Amino acid sequence: MSQSPEIKKGQVETTGHVWDGDLREYNNPLPRWWLWAFYGTIVFAVVYWILYPAWPYAGTYTKGVETVSFTVKEPNGQEKTVTEHWNSRALFNKDMESSPSALAQKEWLAKVKDMSFEQIAANPDTLNFARSMGHALFGDHCAACHGTGGQGVLSMNPEASYPNLTDDAWIHGSSYEKIVQDITNGIHGNMPAFGALFQGEKRADLAQYVLSLSHQSGVNEEAANRGKALFATCAGCHGATGAGNQMIGAPNLTDQSWDFVDISGAKDYDEKLKLIEGVIANGLNHQMPKFGDRLSPEQIRLLAVYVRQLGGS
Ligand code: HEC
Ligand code: HEC
Repeated sequence: MSQSPEIKKGQVETTGHVWDGDLREYNNPLPRWWLWAFYGTIVFAVVYWILYPAWPYAGTYTKGVETVSFTVKEPNGQEKTVTEHWNSRALFNKDMESSPSALAQKEWLAKVKDMSFEQIAANPDTLNFARSMGHALFGDHCAACHGTGGQGVLSMNPEASYPNLTDDAWIHGSSYEKIVQDITNGIHGNMPAFGALFQGEKRADLAQYVLSLSHQSGVNEEAANRGKALFATCAGCHGATGAGNQMIGAPNLTDQSWDFVDISGAKDYDEKLKLIEGVIANGLNHQMPKFGDRLSPEQIRLLAVYVRQLGGS
């Protein structure tokens, strides 16, 4: 590399460096538009840093001077203006509190707050509101277990079943008050195991009797008759006729709607027997979580209206 001796007139200026005898480097000025755009980005960045959250420091970050304000209704009914630094959560909160749909929802919530369940269900407008709000809440909180339409899950493993809420067979009761209570406090359904008490022939006879209660075809009448005497142990919860007890949450065994045991999915009568014998031997245990700490009383009331009309009540 050597210094270039001369620059001819009219030629673009070079940096003055020459490689391999004739290889030079031009020294063109930056185009003006490019330079201004570049300064522009610097100014933009500085303004942005001042207005919005930008720089991390000491375990937190600069919050910026831009703010978001919205009104929220406090539990005591008073309105309060909240101002937060600009951030996407504040924008979301603002949207949740003051977008047109949020305001409409609040208006409806206020309207149904003092109405009875029966009044809400009797008025087409409030029923519609309960349906759409209930449907959204159901999708968020209940569908994972009960299915998007509330149809539940009936599994060959009864412990993995979740009750169908769209049929008219209620394990725990269909009154609005009971449904609210079930959602608020959760449900623990438990049937003890009778594997030690009923073994072999006895267990099979009892299972035959249980299947005879819902008139399954293939029942061995003789065995079912022997099983009938043993059902006294079960009657304390399921009732003398097997019609169930909603106070205890013991399902009705005389109808065709099975809540946990997939009798309708069994491929033949023998499999039905096995399923019932399994329940007698091992008992059943189901837990629905409580939602009283996750949903407001108003949300639970609307869910109750929604769930109850799913069941055709
Ligand atoms: C202490 C009360 C209690 C007794 C006694 C009892 N059960 Fe149950 N049974 C229940 C409860 C509660 C459930 C629902 C379990 C759940 O929610 O996990 C149930 C569920 C069942 C089911 C499933 C029903 C369905 O729709 O899927 C069958 C079948 C059944 N019991 C049969 C029996 C038989 C047979 C006996 C007698 C050996 C018996 N139970 C004794 C409380 C009882
Ligand atoms: C983690 C699973 C799970 C979730 C989530 C869940 N449930 Fe349940 N639910 C159950 C189980 C299991 C039962 C049956 C309890 C029993 O009787 O053993 C049940 C029972 C019920 C019953 C009683 C049905 C009857 O026939 O009496 C209602 C009503 C109900 N759920 C509504 C809801 C609603 C509304 C939500 C959402 C807020 C919800 N559940 C969320 C698991 C769940």
